[in-house]
Amino acid sequence: MEVLEQVKKKIYEFIEVCNYPKALELLEKLSTGKMLRSKLILKIAGLSEDSIKLCAVVEMIHAASLLHDDVIDEADTRRGKPSINALYSDKTSIMFGDILYSRAFTELSQMDKRVAYHISNTVTELSIGEMMDVDLTLTFNTSYDKYLTMIYKKTASLIEASARSAAILVGLDSEKYALYGKNLGLAFQMIDDILDITQDSETLGKPAMLDFVEGKVTIPYLYLYERVEEKDYLKSLYKKELNSEELNWIKTKFKETNALNDSINEARKIGLEAINSIKDEKNSKDLVDIMKDMIEREF
Ligand code: FPP
Ligand code: MG
Repeated sequence: MEVLEQVKKKIYEFIEVCNYPKALELLEKLSTGKMLRSKLILKIAGLSEDSIKLCAVVEMIHAASLLHDDVIDEADTRRGKPSINALYSDKTSIMFGDILYSRAFTELSQMDKRVAYHISNTVTELSIGEMMDVDLTLTFNTSYDKYLTMIYKKTASLIEASARSAAILVGLDSEKYALYGKNLGLAFQMIDDILDITQDSETLGKPAMLDFVEGKVTIPYLYLYERVEEKDYLKSLYKKELNSEELNWIKTKFKETNALNDSINEARKIGLEAINSIKDEKNSKDLVDIMKDMIEREF
């Protein structure tokens, strides 16, 4: 059986224990996505009962966080398919998130103590990151530090904990892998934020350039604000449905100021830092490939 299939089977078994058919019905409705975190864990820890369990726990926590996030963001699609809140209700999405998340924690409590500590601690970071994300959409944020802290907590922390925990399972230098995971996660979120601008809505599975309308001042907009002369005009477009003239103005300014290209370069730089921390490890080639897969997406 393909390894990622084994992870999916483990998740199924973990939910089957609930003995509640609706939980399995909802599980079937989730699309698993790229399973980046599992791929990372398996590259570092190899295939074993413990590594498959760790993958399942991490994917369940990640899925739970997205089920809650879709309610918070009022999103009707997830990975190009209708979200659980759209198909059922907000209540169902929250409750199913709670089932996934608590079942993951029960399993986690039976695992290596250090793994249990790092993974559970990260869920607090995720939750704070989500709260920061929501709070940062209230007013136009111009602080790069706040943006970086928020994406670290919301996205990079779970990837960091996954890499660290995988290294712990097989006795590798966990600090090196944690740093790799942290920088991989930061670059990953930055690229996601860049793709919101560069890709069309069909590829994204949601409207393009939505972040700014929703109040998210992501890295390209932070650079743009720093560099553009018409700061007040840019601010006046914040959280507004943009007409084509306004959209074109933003796109032109992205080019003129190099804000978009420099954001891509910044994400690449962080990606290289990730690679640097594991370059002397024996599985470094695989970890470089994971990074390349992620960074060399269509901009
Ligand atoms: C997606 O961000 C959201 C996250 C990566 C984290 C959400 C975290 C929580 C809701 C707290 C943790 C809760 C539990 C139950 C574990 P996004 O909205 O920027 O990305 P998107 O476009 O994929 O929705
Ligand atoms: Mg969201």
